[in-house]
Amino acid sequence: MAELIVLVEDDRELRGFLGEVLESAGYRVAAFGDGWRALQALESSAAEVDLVITDLRMPGLSGEELLDQVRRLRPEIHVIVITAFGSIDSAIALVKAGAYDYLTKPFGSDELLLSVERALEASRLRRQLAEARRGALVNFPGLVAVSRPMVQLREIVGRIAVSPFPVLITGETGTGKELVARAIHHASGRKAFVAVNCAALPENLLESELFGHEKGAFTGADRDKPGLFEEADGGTLFLDEVGELPRSLQPKLLRALEEGEIRRVGALRPRRVDVRVVAATNRDLEREVEEGRFREDLYWRLNVVALHVPPLRERLEDIPVLAQYFLERAVGREGSGSTAAGGPEGAFGLSSEALALLKAYPWPGNVRELRNALEGAVALTGKSWIEAADLPARIRDTAVGLAKVAGAAEHRLSLRELEREYILEVLRQVAGNKSRAAEILGMDRKTLYRKLAEYRLEGDEAET
Ligand SMILES: Nc1ncnc2c1ncn2[C@@H]1O[C@H](COP(=O)(O)OP(=O)(O)OP(=O)(O)O)[C@@H](O)[C@H]1O
Ligand SMILES: [Mg+2]
Repeated sequence: MAELIVLVEDDRELRGFLGEVLESAGYRVAAFGDGWRALQALESSAAEVDLVITDLRMPGLSGEELLDQVRRLRPEIHVIVITAFGSIDSAIALVKAGAYDYLTKPFGSDELLLSVERALEASRLRRQLAEARRGALVNFPGLVAVSRPMVQLREIVGRIAVSPFPVLITGETGTGKELVARAIHHASGRKAFVAVNCAALPENLLESELFGHEKGAFTGADRDKPGLFEEADGGTLFLDEVGELPRSLQPKLLRALEEGEIRRVGALRPRRVDVRVVAATNRDLEREVEEGRFREDLYWRLNVVALHVPPLRERLEDIPVLAQYFLERAVGREGSGSTAAGGPEGAFGLSSEALALLKAYPWPGNVRELRNALEGAVALTGKSWIEAADLPARIRDTAVGLAKVAGAAEHRLSLRELEREYILEVLRQVAGNKSRAAEILGMDRKTLYRKLAEYRLEGDEAET
């Protein structure tokens, strides 16, 4: 059903006009000549009101007071305020008080509809986040997912959680591999979750860390020490960056997976352990196998259940919801349970310009980078309402880059020039990291190098 908009305007002519504009755009409109009647309707109405548009200065209940009441009674409903020319200051105060947007008279129907569409989009976002949270609770609190691939991933996690097979999680840095591993563990009902980063320790330490050692196994081994496999007995062992596991330890891991047996360093006899192994890597393990750095049999053994976490730029639908989620956490209202976008003390969310930027930026650091960007913005500004200007410069610059690309048609750039602009823009955004740039551009590194070399031959200032 079409969205229902409550319209409050004392000027009968303007009311009629606005009502018509909204209705002809496909919305349902309930129009009122004063704030009291609108408030009564909101209080009593069983209908799902999606948005309130109110004039500011009206006889009786003012727009300000109405806003206050709506925020108190129905905090999930956004309010757009109509103000007279010259009252911008009070309009800004209203936005601070939780109004979604304001329109200054005279305004065109386009402006009205744009603002309405944004406000409705923002409400959808909040509902989505609430739903994503509910969904997340079923599997794992804190795994926010609304995009198709992530929702599917979450379903698979639910299905494979109780199976004993190893899981291999692949994906770029910061995509949420560890979070997925924790979600699997959470849904498995197994005992302990033990995590180890295979890249963090030198070979010999890693061996005794994983498998333990007996007293006297090597200098300094002055007592028996169980390894992480034993610690994770009955639980889940998370092997992070498994691609970095030294060749020499790979047979021991294979044996643990195949036989359910490990042997402490220096021990004569193996021990049985019941451990579910979940491994993660941001490397291309198949290539590691081809190049002889990773044992093929171990690869196939780990890869029984393979999960891929897609990069953020391939699931744009997650960005607004994740942004809202991190914002709420940063502001410290996590778990407040309410869907309120802003208490009376301040608007709470992201402007549509800010959201557009977040969707345009390629996120080389994926969800982690998004989280840092929002936490940083909240820390720096102290605000709970984030606008484009509050975002880090590299993200804001995306807009400039994209505008350049968008303006290319106007400037009649050739496809080749456009390609060059775009490649340079992506390179700028990943701070010159060519592997990352090649990945984002969907070309192999060699092609990228060749293209950069060509551009340089053309005598350009290709930044490399
Ligand atoms: N879907 C998500 N919902 C909520 N938070 C997320 C999600 N995905 C990632 N995060 C957050 O982003 C950050 C990075 O996630 P995580 O550590 O799981 O990434 P990773 O893939 O293991 O990265 P790396 O390869 O660098 O180790 C964490 O703070 C995590 O909580
Ligand atoms: Mg990780």
